[in-house]
Amino acid sequence: MNFDLKTLSHSGALTHKSDLLVVLQKSTAQKQSPQKSTSISVLSQYLSEIQKEEGFDPKPGKTLLILKPQPLQSKRLMVLGVGEGRPSDIRKSVLSAFKSIKSLGYKEITLLLDESISEKERALKLSVLAVSDALYLYTKTKPSAKPDKDSKSKSTPLLGTDLSVTFAMAEAKTASVKNAFTQALALSEGIELAKEWGNRPANHATPTHLGNVAINLGKHPDIKVNVMGPKEVEKLGMGSFLSVAQGSAEPLRFITLEYRGARAKSSDPVVLVGKGITFDTGGISIKPGAGMDEMKFDMCGAASVLGVFKSLSVLRPSDLHVVGLIPTCENMPDGHAIKPGDVVTSMSGQTIEILNTDAEGRLILCDALTYAKRFKPKAVIDIATLTGACVIALGHLRSGLFSNNDELANALEKAGEASLDTCWRMPLDDEYAEALKSNFADVANVGDRAAGSVTAAKFLQRFANDFAWAHLDIAGTAWNSGAAKGSTGRPVGLLMEYLLSHSHSHSTPSKAARPSVKSARK
Ligand code: BES
Ligand code: MN
Ligand code: ZN
Repeated sequence: MNFDLKTLSHSGALTHKSDLLVVLQKSTAQKQSPQKSTSISVLSQYLSEIQKEEGFDPKPGKTLLILKPQPLQSKRLMVLGVGEGRPSDIRKSVLSAFKSIKSLGYKEITLLLDESISEKERALKLSVLAVSDALYLYTKTKPSAKPDKDSKSKSTPLLGTDLSVTFAMAEAKTASVKNAFTQALALSEGIELAKEWGNRPANHATPTHLGNVAINLGKHPDIKVNVMGPKEVEKLGMGSFLSVAQGSAEPLRFITLEYRGARAKSSDPVVLVGKGITFDTGGISIKPGAGMDEMKFDMCGAASVLGVFKSLSVLRPSDLHVVGLIPTCENMPDGHAIKPGDVVTSMSGQTIEILNTDAEGRLILCDALTYAKRFKPKAVIDIATLTGACVIALGHLRSGLFSNNDELANALEKAGEASLDTCWRMPLDDEYAEALKSNFADVANVGDRAAGSVTAAKFLQRFANDFAWAHLDIAGTAWNSGAAKGSTGRPVGLLMEYLLSHSHSHSTPSKAARPSVKSARK
């Protein structure tokens, strides 16, 4: 699969050759944005004629397919309704259109973002991401699987074979459009990696496998990786993390990734911490059988951190410094497993009474948060499929956002809106922590059922007092259930948007150094 950016005006679109030309059509296009030139273009005229003829109403996602569009050299034309042309309409429409297009066997598809589409850069980015989302195909454990290249392979798998998609617009040569396209490509690779690893079954995505994904990312010149096993983790005193892993035959891993852009040598990093439970049975507090398979997605926080590093490795932003921490293990019941009532000592020295072994995410994250302090972080963001209660609170639309720092919370909220990978801030009043009182330790790992996502965050907050911290509960947003069961790759989009909004320069070219890149540093 191949994505290109091409300069194409309305008149150019007439002579442009492709198997399928997709033109985004707003319902209000004609009324709101007449052509700048005095004469209406041949393409516009043709489009309005056929729409009238067919009684086509360009609601978001509605399509009109013309087999031999006479004024065009493309073999087929698809008019794709985008309603009012809002960013969310564009994403939704392009996604649904390409989901149906992908099975039609075209080789070359051109998507035209014409004059009527506003916020060109954003529309382009969302279109690229929507196409790449639509074309993603899980094959790893299907009969169609390619010979096993597995976690050590450099390229990620997938995407509809030899299909090539050209994104076309009149402004394709402007720096901001080119930049948006480059960002979108990097982002799509990160999201794809997060989806792929989220989707792989737990016996194909063990802590060791995730460690290998990181090691593979570490081959990049800007990324350093360190993967620790049980012995090193024990030496560090991560008694809480160790206790979760002790019921499993799979050895735990603690993964550290560090990305430093060429000009970020001395800046303090943003630290991302991803929950990497590769399977959550609940442990001795075992989960009901129905739907338990979905607990293979309990490492989607970890996958999103790996996805961010993939995107960083492609984009190479020169002044970013990012650290990724991934505690990863299984949560299993066996003769060695932790039992309700057990008390363990975390790396911070705080003791924890484990009243429910199914509240394991916070037990592995708390030690990673303590470990994060050594990087003198500018901010620490943990990403975790942490609570079913968050799904009850916010459903599958927005991730839960908790933070001890308003500036960080605002920046993450903003990044969520900009990327359409949204979150919603939740409270952290101290009174919520009363539910976690224990008679036998500094803190209990669960409260009662009330405000379950908040008490989980209150537990984590105890380990994050020394820095600006935010927690994203992605239990409702990291994957879809039902017929569309599969990982979403969220919140890689939100995180990259946040990181890049704090970057002041463009990316480092991958080959030779670029002559004079001016960056507006604060
Ligand atoms: N991984 C789950 C959270 C989860 C549950 C995500 C359902 C998505 C769907 C987490 O480890 C867990 O089991 N949490 C418990 C906490 C409870 C025991 C306090 C939960 O949410 O039920
Ligand atoms: Mn659990
Ligand atoms: Zn879990």
